[in-house]
Amino acid sequence: MDIILLGPPGAGKGTQAGRLEDEHGMVQLSTGDMLRAAVKAGTEVGLKAKALMDAGELVPDEVVSGIIGDRLDELGPDKGVIFDGYPRTAAQAASLDEILSSRGRKLDHVIELVVDEDALVERITGRFTCGNCGEGYHDIYKQTAKDGICDICGLSDFKRRPDDNEETVRTRMQEYRGKTAPILPIYDERGIVRKVDGMGSMSEVNDAIEAALKLS
Ligand code: AP5
Repeated sequence: MDIILLGPPGAGKGTQAGRLEDEHGMVQLSTGDMLRAAVKAGTEVGLKAKALMDAGELVPDEVVSGIIGDRLDELGPDKGVIFDGYPRTAAQAASLDEILSSRGRKLDHVIELVVDEDALVERITGRFTCGNCGEGYHDIYKQTAKDGICDICGLSDFKRRPDDNEETVRTRMQEYRGKTAPILPIYDERGIVRKVDGMGSMSEVNDAIEAALKLS
């Protein structure tokens, strides 16, 4: 099964994709994570993306569609994929159709995380991750069991994203409203959009997604 998780910044796409990956053996393809890895590695893609990401603006369509196609080729045909943060524009949606059909795949569902945007700034500005193993945390909603120590790897090397400040989050929201939300009707017309309330607890949202995908 190939699915898209769609929702504004902080809606919980990464959180829920991680759970589907852990519990159902699907593979999360997050363009945000791939771009951050490219920035860290100082690749050509990373150099193109860094300033745009820091400003909360979208990276050019051909750059992200290129990395998605490459990743799918590495994965092979057997694993179901969760597209997290892709597509984000009408051009990316058209590219995804081509990328999938040329590999004999098809999109099964689009999960739209329906959220209250006002609550998202708090979610995003409270987010941090372990710089060693990548586990995600939140100042309020997902604290470490022991103060300052990662529950998974036991190290104390936490990081916050440079684009997780309030001003940049507002730009990211505008990009979502102006360029990403308008692609929903494309999938609505195909009858594959499943709306899920993204404002419950992480487990409640997970349960609702599993029910929508008939995984539970
Ligand atoms: P990207 O990394 O995709 O960021 P985003 O879409 O802004 O989404 P986030 O990662 O901020 O949020 P999320 O929905 O994954 O929420 P999360 O689960 O972490 O993109 C970053 C940048 O890269 C873009 O601005 C752009 O520049 C570029 N880019 C990426 N893809 C691109 C593309 N396709 N085209 C062009 N440019 C692209 O949750 C957030 C926090 O809330 C966490 O701390 C979590 O613990 C907490 N939380 C989650 N769920 C809940 C819950 N139910 N209750 C309470 N807390 C919760």
